[in-house]
Amino acid sequence: MSHILVVDDEIGIRQVLSDVLHDEGHGVTAVEDGYQALRALETEPVDLVILDVWLPNMGGIDVLKAIKKNHPEVEVLIISGHANINMAVQAVKMGAFDFLEKPLSLDKTITVVQNALKLEELRKENRNLRQSLYVDDPMIGSSAGLGRVRALIEQSAGSDARILVLGENGTGKELVAREIHRRSHRSGGPFVEVNCASIPETLIESELFGHEKGSFTNAVARRKGKFELADGGTLFLDEIADMSLATQAKVLRVIQELKFERVGGEQSIGVDVRLVAATNRNIEQEVREGRFREDLYFRINVVPIRVPPLRERLEDLDELLDYFMKKLKAGPEAAPKRLSPEAMKLLRRHPWPGNIRELKNFVERVNIMAEEQEVSAETVRRYLTSRTDPEREEPHKDYASMKLTQAKEEFERDLLVRKLEEHQGNITQASRALGISPSHLHNKIRKYGIDPKK
Ligand SMILES: Nc1ncnc2c1ncn2[C@@H]1O[C@H](COP(=O)(O)OP(=O)(O)OP(=O)(O)O)[C@@H](O)[C@H]1O
Ligand SMILES: [Mg+2]
Repeated sequence: MSHILVVDDEIGIRQVLSDVLHDEGHGVTAVEDGYQALRALETEPVDLVILDVWLPNMGGIDVLKAIKKNHPEVEVLIISGHANINMAVQAVKMGAFDFLEKPLSLDKTITVVQNALKLEELRKENRNLRQSLYVDDPMIGSSAGLGRVRALIEQSAGSDARILVLGENGTGKELVAREIHRRSHRSGGPFVEVNCASIPETLIESELFGHEKGSFTNAVARRKGKFELADGGTLFLDEIADMSLATQAKVLRVIQELKFERVGGEQSIGVDVRLVAATNRNIEQEVREGRFREDLYFRINVVPIRVPPLRERLEDLDELLDYFMKKLKAGPEAAPKRLSPEAMKLLRRHPWPGNIRELKNFVERVNIMAEEQEVSAETVRRYLTSRTDPEREEPHKDYASMKLTQAKEEFERDLLVRKLEEHQGNITQASRALGISPSHLHNKIRKYGIDPKK
């Protein structure tokens, strides 16, 4: 039995959905606004949220954001009136499972709820039973860019050289780190991961170095830190640029002396670890601007490995899709879906801001959601993340109140800014996308005073 949380300010909808879902054998909690919904999520074991996009007080989009942030494992299904269909589409692009349009068709509601629960179930299964299989994708792709990554891994894995893995979100940095460990003489030892961004500043020292009993309020027992746990193996410092300067100083000391003390302890502990670090930030810039210690940077950056974003190795797209389509099919008996030529065209044009992770999530959703065996372009459009973050999206400009020249210029400026953003300020690429020459684009940038790198 699954537990479903219904969030709608209309009592009629709450009533109908509660009844129907009960009849289908699910547990249901129904609440009328976002605050109550978030409270319910803290106290009840919810598998699926059915969320009205148009709510009083806290809007549905904000509720969705809070759910995705605090309960990423919970699927969200949006309900929307015809007037708010744009918001519903936006919500799907932000990670909602799908949307249902009012007036609700009960058959359709039941099917979509079943699908959402199926996805939940598959994810859980993947997490539990097949965890290693899920985490350890082999490195797929034959592009030159990935070839360089492979060659660097090959060259450096055998030594104890410290490696810094650089690349955007979801490009496969962790995969690279694990591969380095696997190919090293330490592969029989532990691979220990620390995500420096997700540990609160007050706890990171204890997390890294461990603590003695009673060293602070919650230290009820002695605990080993990650450095100690990684002894004889590899320590993966993920999101290293998010470490505070104070912690950086301590990590630097450990690297130099290969020993440290537990928090609240006196005894010096020596360890034998190989360090691999990763970040999605521009770490050289962090160094220049004083947020990352230069000495630590040089220490960890003995071998830099830059993992290229997917849009720079679109040659890998077919192979990746093929691999994930088979791996993430809707069930053990289901046949893997195919992508129509038009769907493929769209995927090739997509900028993949979330890289391989986005691709993987996309395939997972399409496999379960698409009713057709050959996935259409329309389905792809529906489930593909949009490049622009809705939070940053500007309110729609009131072109109607402008004179033609002004409206044209405003529009042109916005388009240029957007294209430059899509291409990370690369003038050649942006001008190609706009169908004008680079020098023409330069002139316009000057005319509008745009900062192409922003
Ligand atoms: N070349 C690849 N072939 C197959 N799967 C891949 C490849 N690269 C990444 N993946 C898969 O994509 C997902 C994201 O990869 P990973 O977690 O290594 O990225 P990351 O760069 O560490 O992301 P983040 O910056 O968000 O931490 C993982 O599930 C990983 O297994
Ligand atoms: Mg990572």
